[in-house]
Amino acid sequence: MSKLLYIQASPRIERSYSIAVADAFVSAYRQRNPKDEVIAMNLFKKDLPAFDGLTVQAKYTILHGLKHTPEELAAWKKVEELIAEFKSADKYVLAVPMWNFGIPYRLKQYLDIIVQPGYTFSFSPKEGYKGLVLGKPIFVSYSRGGAYEKGSPAEAFDLQTKYLQLALGFIGFTDIRSLIVEPTLASADVAKQKREEAIAKAKEMANTF
Ligand SMILES: Cc1cc2nc3c(=O)[nH]c(=O)nc-3n(C[C@H](O)[C@H](O)[C@H](O)COP(=O)(O)O)c2cc1C
Repeated sequence: MSKLLYIQASPRIERSYSIAVADAFVSAYRQRNPKDEVIAMNLFKKDLPAFDGLTVQAKYTILHGLKHTPEELAAWKKVEELIAEFKSADKYVLAVPMWNFGIPYRLKQYLDIIVQPGYTFSFSPKEGYKGLVLGKPIFVSYSRGGAYEKGSPAEAFDLQTKYLQLALGFIGFTDIRSLIVEPTLASADVAKQKREEAIAKAKEMANTF
């Protein structure tokens, strides 16, 4: 039995294109894998600790090989809990809107919490950086209001897929399957058609996940 962690990074829930596509993927997956556990979380509803001065200090205390103060320890405990929850999954599904050419701030905050040396990546002068989240597939459903097709002048503005691919690769993901629904802010007809096409493709992609 596998555990699938389904992370939504849009606050728009039932209006969200990225969630509609990811939902279709997850429900097709559930049908094929009824015994698997699916844990869903929306990052706009989840209690994410601020990555503030105290938490950064707790991180640097570890980096410098020192002992946490009680305050740092308490702040770091929440970070460790979220990392443990993330790493406990065998498979991942991520729904990600484009916000100002990048990712929504709640997903960035989540990444700032879970991307940590010694937990999700390692560093040694000899071997450099190595991801520690290994052998796990991830399906990413991207949505954006405009269109950023490969080879078009708009492609340079797409820091959403570029950043996320890089961040996921950095912590060890190699099996990254993705699907883009765009342009969601085009005419209602075009957006509806693109949504339906992406949903059909997502269901197909779930069959081999
Ligand atoms: C704060 C904010 C910033 C946005 N920035 C962009 C952008 O830079 N480029 C773009 O094409 N669409 C942008 N959009 C539009 C969204 O990408 C689009 O509505 C998409 O469908 C959102 O994903 P969702 O439907 O899953 O919520 C933005 C929307 C919001 C709310």
